[in-house]
Amino acid sequence: MVKIAASILSADFARLGQQVTEVEAAGVDYIHVDVMDGHFVPNITAGPMIVEAVRRVTDLPIDVHLMIEKPEKYLPHFAAAGATILTVHVETCPHLHRTVQQIHELGAKAGVTLNPATSLFTLEEILPYVDLVLLMTVNPGFGGQEFIPTSLSRIERLRRMLDQAGYPAELEVDGGVNPETAPQIVAAGATILVSGAAIFESELSIREAVARLRGSYNHFPAAA
Ligand code: DX5
Ligand code: ZN
Repeated sequence: MVKIAASILSADFARLGQQVTEVEAAGVDYIHVDVMDGHFVPNITAGPMIVEAVRRVTDLPIDVHLMIEKPEKYLPHFAAAGATILTVHVETCPHLHRTVQQIHELGAKAGVTLNPATSLFTLEEILPYVDLVLLMTVNPGFGGQEFIPTSLSRIERLRRMLDQAGYPAELEVDGGVNPETAPQIVAAGATILVSGAAIFESELSIREAVARLRGSYNHFPAAA
């Protein structure tokens, strides 16, 4: 079954605990925390304190997306704060294999991610070692952007790379996921959908927005 990761980037941070409780009650599978440093991406968001605060209000796995330079310096802090999955950008990790090892040694699941214009071939050597691959389908930095249409073929190609080698990694898609784009994203082979604006900035209630997102793709069988 395809899972949903609710990105709190679009949540109301003045009511963060309540919003996390609401998405959990709506049946999402992960809480996605977008960490931005103002260097790797042109925005600054949350640190380990936010992960720790989210950890206190939910038992859902916390999926931490690190859009920061030198992530290896901060991984222990995010792990101690309660992160379940730690995902680093290949563009920020010259020693990616070492960084993935570090994440596993910290007791977390390791994810790798790449920007829309970074070649899928940069993943080739690391795929046997990771629990999750996150494909960015917008340029990282902001919520509420439009899905880049050529990303569909990237999802299909990554699906093939994983299947042909028999790697069990999750294929997570991040950026511009909504009830209009989700059916094609799922048909292309995604197993986790990150969604921020479509859940937290919808005219619908959080419960209805999650149900609508799930209903949009549910008749498509997962390719995994
Ligand atoms: C963008 C973030 C995403 C973002 C997705 O840099 O990595 O997780 O919050 O937001 P939506 O679903 O609004 O595109
Ligand atoms: Zn993200």
